[in-house]
Amino acid sequence: MTKIKACIFDLDGVIVDTAKYHYLAWKELANELAFDFSETQNERLKGISRMASLDILLEIGGIKLTKQEREKYATKKNQRYIEMVSQMQPDEILPGAKEFLLAVRNAGIKTALGSASKNAPAILKRLNLTALFDVIIDGNKVTKAKPDPEVFIKGADELDIPYELCVVFEDAEAGVEAALSANMKCVGIGSPETLSKANIVIDGLHQMNLNKLMAL
Ligand code: BG6
Ligand code: MG
Repeated sequence: MTKIKACIFDLDGVIVDTAKYHYLAWKELANELAFDFSETQNERLKGISRMASLDILLEIGGIKLTKQEREKYATKKNQRYIEMVSQMQPDEILPGAKEFLLAVRNAGIKTALGSASKNAPAILKRLNLTALFDVIIDGNKVTKAKPDPEVFIKGADELDIPYELCVVFEDAEAGVEAALSANMKCVGIGSPETLSKANIVIDGLHQMNLNKLMAL
């Protein structure tokens, strides 16, 4: 049995139900550019930075844009996303997320956020979740997107915990890959087919507890 000393959480789709807003905002943009964008195609965007997501979206639509136009559309998507998340309510915190964070902290285990999103701090603040994390690493603090492990490495380094004693919670395939390549354990949140590389896959943090954590 490993003595887990830190839990590092992705935000979108793990702690809060924001993955749907990212999808809706990208879909609106795709429709504006005259193509459709499915939820299956959206799986490729999960965990990926804003500009890299736009590039994948444009590739799907077969559209080539200048750097300036890409900046414009990325800003537009983000404005729409911010409009949606600024209306979020506490019931959009995913089931069991707050309870598990509290249980982990009460057990003396450190907590970090490891998110690709530049909007992460604002979302945590809006839902009163900021104080539940010892360290917050978001899209403003990293240069390399998942599946690069930079976001999780920075979290563990700031917490001063060895990587092999960290567990990452992720809903994106790119995030699972990032965690494993950092030599951390990974709990996948979502579909076992998409997240097959994770150590275990669960539907959500409501299915997690300290016993399962320590058995990883
Ligand atoms: C990730 C999401 O958490 O953050 C991606 O899974 C998103 O869908 C990425 O593109 C970047 O988010 P933001 O808020 O900086 O545009
Ligand atoms: Mg996510």
